[in-house]
Amino acid sequence: MDAIRIRGGNPLRGRIRVSGAKNAALPILCATLLSPGTCLLRNVPSLRDIHTLAALLRFLGRDTEVGEGTVAVRAEGANVRPEAPYELVKQMRASVLVLGPLLARYGRARVSLPGGCAIGARPVDQHLKGLEAMGARIELDRGYITAKGPDTEKGRLRGAEFCFDNVIVTGTEHLMMAASLAKGRTVLSNCAQEPEVTELAQVLNSMGSQIQGAGSHQITIDGVDELRPCDHIVASDRIEAGTFMVAAAATAGDVIVEGASFEHMHGFVSKLRDAGCTVTRDDDGVRVRRDGPLRPTNITTAPYPGFPTDMQAQFMVLMCLANGRSIITEMIFENRFMHVSELARMGANIDVRGNTAIVHGVPNLSGASVMATDLRASASLVIAGLVATSHETDILRVYHLDRGYEHIEHKLARLGADITRIKDARA
Ligand code: UD1
Repeated sequence: MDAIRIRGGNPLRGRIRVSGAKNAALPILCATLLSPGTCLLRNVPSLRDIHTLAALLRFLGRDTEVGEGTVAVRAEGANVRPEAPYELVKQMRASVLVLGPLLARYGRARVSLPGGCAIGARPVDQHLKGLEAMGARIELDRGYITAKGPDTEKGRLRGAEFCFDNVIVTGTEHLMMAASLAKGRTVLSNCAQEPEVTELAQVLNSMGSQIQGAGSHQITIDGVDELRPCDHIVASDRIEAGTFMVAAAATAGDVIVEGASFEHMHGFVSKLRDAGCTVTRDDDGVRVRRDGPLRPTNITTAPYPGFPTDMQAQFMVLMCLANGRSIITEMIFENRFMHVSELARMGANIDVRGNTAIVHGVPNLSGASVMATDLRASASLVIAGLVATSHETDILRVYHLDRGYEHIEHKLARLGADITRIKDARA
């Protein structure tokens, strides 16, 4: 397994371009299952999760070609196999999103229960309840979800009203896709409002879906008989952008993050400013600078447009270096503080009580060997390594990082970081 070695202390300076959004590309790739013909996605990041889903689409009978920033998914002449095995689904939780499109299109599907980052129980009950509301008959058997369409209407799902128990991004996306080919109107309430949901709705509408209200609490989908292929440019990754913004702030640097969308980061930007950073719009993105000391700042994660849980670990590193005490409350996942024990090994002073972390700022962090435990925790360790002064930092098990960040070491090196990848290091 690869490791990342960082000699910290260099302020990051310069321009960096954000890649396409993983969390937008994944559901859109699943949506290609809804149409005949060839779908083309552009600005797709080259990430392990994308390759995992491409392999799954191939297994399902789609001719899937991953190019330089593109993925083409061809359905012609496909030998459809609506069955997603554990070996592929366990690598990435979002794979469960093939269930709804397969069921909507072919009237049946069998998909393994998902794996993914170990940041909590992460059930899929709401996805399944929503599909059941549309008439699906669902059974769980030896780790697999078996779903069949209703007996009536030749197995075609039917429109339904469904209210999510809590706000779930992929759940909202999943039901939007399934409802697109259902018979009649579906009304989804308590929906996620994340930009990735809105983007998926735009893509589905370009394929012929009739979706209204995406980006609000309530989404209405009028099912259609068939969809056509899409050709779509994936939007920039707001979490990757946010990670670079925190890295710039943590190292007291000055970085323009090209492609970052200010509109999609209000909750996060206001907290960066509270922490003492200067954040401004640039022609082609967002500029982050810091000259003065870091101020303690409390954050509570929340669904969009609140502070994203996917930025909590990275922001915690900033607060480790702030001049005082910060309180970080995690409201989305029950086990998302796994980075705390690793940051403590680098000299951070953090108390965890339930879903709250009390961060007592320290003057500096020192390098150490640390273990990446999940995707965003890994990003926080990279930022900690960029700041740590006294020793170098080795981050082991970086395959988590490779799930969500494209060439992160090259991008950060271009900004002046002393960072290298060590191939096949011992973990
Ligand atoms: C998405 C993002 C992920 C982000 C998360 C929260 C993608 C591919 N992933 O994950 O990066 O961290 O939103 O912003 O877009 N839950 C239920 N029942 C369900 C499903 C979820 O109770 O059926 C709960 C979970 O326990 C958790 C919360 O809802 O507390 C979010 O869960 P999860 O399903 O992991 O979020 P996603 O929408 O898949």
